[in-house]
Amino acid sequence: MTEPFTPETLNQADTDFEISLRPIRFDDYIGQEKVKERLSLFVEAAKGRQDVLDHVLLSGPPGLGKTTLAHILAQAMGVTIKVTSGPVIDKPGDLAGLLTNMERGDILFIDEIHRMQRSVEEYLYSAMEDFVIDIMIDQGPNARSVRLNLQPFTLIGATTRSGLLTAPLRSRFGLSNRLDYYTGEELQTIIQRSARILNVDISEAGAAEIGTRARGTPRIANNLLRWVRDYAQVRADNKIDEDVADRALSMLEIDQDGLDEMDKRILSTILDKFSGGPVGLNSLAVSVGEEASTIEEVYEPYLIQEGYVKRTPQGRVVTDRTYQKFGRPPNPRSGELL
Ligand SMILES: Nc1ncnc2c1ncn2[C@@H]1O[C@H](COP(=O)(O)OP(=O)(O)O)[C@@H](O)[C@H]1O
Ligand SMILES: [Mg+2]
Repeated sequence: MTEPFTPETLNQADTDFEISLRPIRFDDYIGQEKVKERLSLFVEAAKGRQDVLDHVLLSGPPGLGKTTLAHILAQAMGVTIKVTSGPVIDKPGDLAGLLTNMERGDILFIDEIHRMQRSVEEYLYSAMEDFVIDIMIDQGPNARSVRLNLQPFTLIGATTRSGLLTAPLRSRFGLSNRLDYYTGEELQTIIQRSARILNVDISEAGAAEIGTRARGTPRIANNLLRWVRDYAQVRADNKIDEDVADRALSMLEIDQDGLDEMDKRILSTILDKFSGGPVGLNSLAVSVGEEASTIEEVYEPYLIQEGYVKRTPQGRVVTDRTYQKFGRPPNPRSGELL
């Protein structure tokens, strides 16, 4: 059984459901054309030389397809992928354990790599560069360092905050790719693909409607599809068209621009409590009751891309688009702030 659906779960991974919809080949992976082209060339070149794929860094907001790409790369290279995440590896010994168990060409996928401890990260440098790891054994007078040789492997790092990566770590990736938000049409295609897999009856316009309201994010698109499917089952004879999609999404208070409750709370807070800004990230976070890092990694990138918010040296300000959206006259100070 899956958890009951709430607007808060929109951006959360639901493992079984997600795995069933996860594309396994570049051909099924919609959009991100440049990234796909670069990565498939990278794979082809490595395979042509019978070489191990160089280390790859994938960055971008949650739900855009980083984990999916890591699995696609493993599949394309025909190698095994081991999955872990930055905060989970809490001792250098954990890392050594993972790395010494890898076979030639295997992929180690480290999610949230920016959250890895510095003491662990330092061991990764020599592992990535020379495929060796020096670990300390024993303590006190018997302490000594032992060098372990590793099989050449590929590290794929994923991060929502590439800016937080240290320069030495960043420089050890052969290829670095940033994923962007998806267009409404791309999301429509993703929804149609997911609907086929889930055996859901949806019209083109129905898929388009969900696509434009999914915050540019495939994970949200799939989660919305699931909600709309449930709605259609109870209220609309199992068929999703534009109107059914609209009614189902309105019930979640997802508006026509695809903004969710937290997006709107952030905008109205800047607008009303801080007279349009500028406001610092931490004050904003306290006001809306959300972690500053979540605002910065999850909400703000989309609001900035869509032109609702700008970052200035003094803090965040809302733009004329936000004034319009909330039916307010344009900000008289917008000229001096933006
Ligand atoms: N380009 C894509 N084409 C089709 N589906 C996608 C694509 N990117 C992501 N998805 C879907 O969105 C879900 C979340 O993607 P995921 O790779 O877990 O995101 P991230 O790791 O960046 O948070 C996946 O299960 C998959 O179904
Ligand atoms: Mg992921």
